[in-house]
Amino acid sequence: MGSKHVFHILTLFPDTVGCFFGESIIKRSIERGIVAVELINIRDFSTDKHRKVDDYPFGGGRGMLLMPGPLFRSLESIDKRGHVVYLNPRGRVLDQSLVRRLSLEPVITLICGHYEGIDERVVEHFVDDEISIGDYVMTGGEIAAAVLVDAISRELDETLGNSASKLEESFDATGLLEYDQYTRPSEYRGMKVPEVLLSGDHKRIEEWRMRSRLINTLEKRPDLLEGCDLTDESRQLLHEIEEERKDERRKRD
Ligand SMILES: C[S@@+](CC[C@H](N)C(=O)[O-])C[C@H]1O[C@@H](n2cnc3c(N)ncnc32)[C@H](O)[C@@H]1O
Repeated sequence: MGSKHVFHILTLFPDTVGCFFGESIIKRSIERGIVAVELINIRDFSTDKHRKVDDYPFGGGRGMLLMPGPLFRSLESIDKRGHVVYLNPRGRVLDQSLVRRLSLEPVITLICGHYEGIDERVVEHFVDDEISIGDYVMTGGEIAAAVLVDAISRELDETLGNSASKLEESFDATGLLEYDQYTRPSEYRGMKVPEVLLSGDHKRIEEWRMRSRLINTLEKRPDLLEGCDLTDESRQLLHEIEEERKDERRKRD
């Protein structure tokens, strides 16, 4: 078993984040000691008698901000913070290459903002990375933190207990999306599974799957193709698929 990866999560809503880790693969990883998640309630570090943690932004404007005090103290309460991430819509958008890079960090501290965000001095003083999970604004960083822990845990080989299942999936080394998949029964309500998948002919299956990956990427995420790492053979296949598509369009028009 490899070394344990530790996540410290600073949040105003530890129960909300905690519920993501009580099931499935993450739960197993925690039980097997591969991943540890420590939830820290920022409110516990308020010195105010009403446990206040937010205040109005200087200069005016909408909403409230998390004050520096409770955040500084909660961060300083952690012995080893490791790589500190602030979940923030203005950060770098998470993708599999960033997940891979983060999975090399043995200790990660995640700061979940709330209200209109956090005092910038916290970012200046502690934060190594600002990460967004997409170009939209949520009410808090809790779901984003859970997304990060889930994706990083999955990236860690030990988490899957079966690293082979990671070899051919979306955003693997090729950068392509995954191929179409089917399970039993081979015919359902008159819909049949592609014959080649039942043939037992591994070479044909491999070719069909590469074709399916190329088609999926071309149709669903053409923006990814430029960064894909393809063999000459796959590139040729992609070219053929594109030509076929052009022909079909010409026939239709
Ligand atoms: C309402 S948002 C603050 C939005 C901020 N005022 C802005 O305009 O960028 C409150 C908190 O939710 C979290 N959050 C919201 N959307 C996010 C996203 N797309 N990715 C990561 N965290 C997000 C951040 O922690 C943020 O501090």
